[in-house]
Amino acid sequence: MAKKESSLDRVLGRIESLDATNLTNLAQKLARERAYLETVFNTALEGILVVDEEGEVQYANESGQRMIGLSDSEVGTTLLWRLIPGLRDSLGLEEGEPLRDSISSRELELTYPEQRFVRIYFLPFKEPVGEDDKQFVVMLSDITNEKRTKDETIESEKIASILLLAAGVAHELGNPLNSLTIHLQLMERQLAKLESGPATGKLGNSLSVCRGEVERLDGIIKNFLEAIRPQEPDFQVLDLSLVLEEVLEVVGSELNDRGITVEVEVVSEAPIVRADRNQMKQVFFNLIKNAMEAMGPGGALKIVSRSDEEKIYLRFGDSGEGIRQSDLSRVFQPYHTTKKSGSGLGLMIVQRIIRGHGGQVGIDSQEGVGTVVTLELPKRNRKLVMLEA
Ligand SMILES: Nc1ncnc2c1ncn2[C@@H]1O[C@H](COP(=O)(O)OP(=O)(O)OP(=O)(O)O)[C@@H](O)[C@H]1O
Ligand SMILES: [Mg+2]
Repeated sequence: MAKKESSLDRVLGRIESLDATNLTNLAQKLARERAYLETVFNTALEGILVVDEEGEVQYANESGQRMIGLSDSEVGTTLLWRLIPGLRDSLGLEEGEPLRDSISSRELELTYPEQRFVRIYFLPFKEPVGEDDKQFVVMLSDITNEKRTKDETIESEKIASILLLAAGVAHELGNPLNSLTIHLQLMERQLAKLESGPATGKLGNSLSVCRGEVERLDGIIKNFLEAIRPQEPDFQVLDLSLVLEEVLEVVGSELNDRGITVEVEVVSEAPIVRADRNQMKQVFFNLIKNAMEAMGPGGALKIVSRSDEEKIYLRFGDSGEGIRQSDLSRVFQPYHTTKKSGSGLGLMIVQRIIRGHGGQVGIDSQEGVGTVVTLELPKRNRKLVMLEA
């Protein structure tokens, strides 16, 4: 914590030489300092908790206590998993397994003491003094309104009409782009027939730059259209491991060229869900592309599918550069990118699609070690079950 050095710090420096009166003064000062920090923490709207490796709550500010319904007497004796059911599963931890040393982000629906949506961040830290037991700051932000307003905004007519206009323009750009692609191909063919020399070499280079840029424009437009169109999923019964295979076939050669290995593991049963085939393909493609871009040659992508009674979990783990702690809260925001030619829409699209399927997206990352993106999907779509009944 950055805080200016106080007279307290100076007194603490020579604590051994203090007499009884000075020690009493010091104790009072410490108590005041503690009260001061407590007020600061309790003023925060965010819930702030500290948990140990096992998930036992060691500290909670007032907002945190309120959000998860934790009483004073439960601090120091209660596991976070008991108060937020589903969280441990969502982090991929078995009973009794300690928290991993990575930063994590999750969105969850709380039902007790009140129904609300929260975004949860786990940030590991070491106690600066005392034993070096690992602890985690858990930040809880209430995103109930954000979620509601997001839906409302998208539905609001004014914005819808602007989006329609933008979508129209983006769509119209498709035709001239197609024509450019065809003519660039024709030019390349003509060029191939000419006698090669320095001039043709230069022309060839320019043409391939043009081709690359046209492809990039095409990609930007496709992403943009995908991002602004909140499409209703066309639900069908799908085995997601087969859909994944199809996507891996398409990107396989690029992964190969980059020297990246891919391993797919389906634990116990096949991941069968009701989902939109094209949308799921888009999700897998965006995640694999991100993993690929985060890794160099020798990188490994591991995709694991697992399930419990209610949910399917798909984990995309890469051995890439990871995500900076300060960037974690922004990765789902539109146009947030750390890449030279990224559009920053990939993960936003992933989140929108998965939410449209009644699921959640979680991220765990460690800088220099890698990133795991977890998709959590309900096995049966509740809405559909009701309709069928
Ligand atoms: N697997 C990953 N490893 C490391 N960083 C990641 C990973 N996935 C996402 N990120 C970070 O999150 C940012 C946002 O990702 P997102 O997919 O939304 O956009 P992008 O990849 O930058 O652009 P594009 O629209 O082309 O996908 C990335 O720029 C990157 O910093
Ligand atoms: Mg991306």
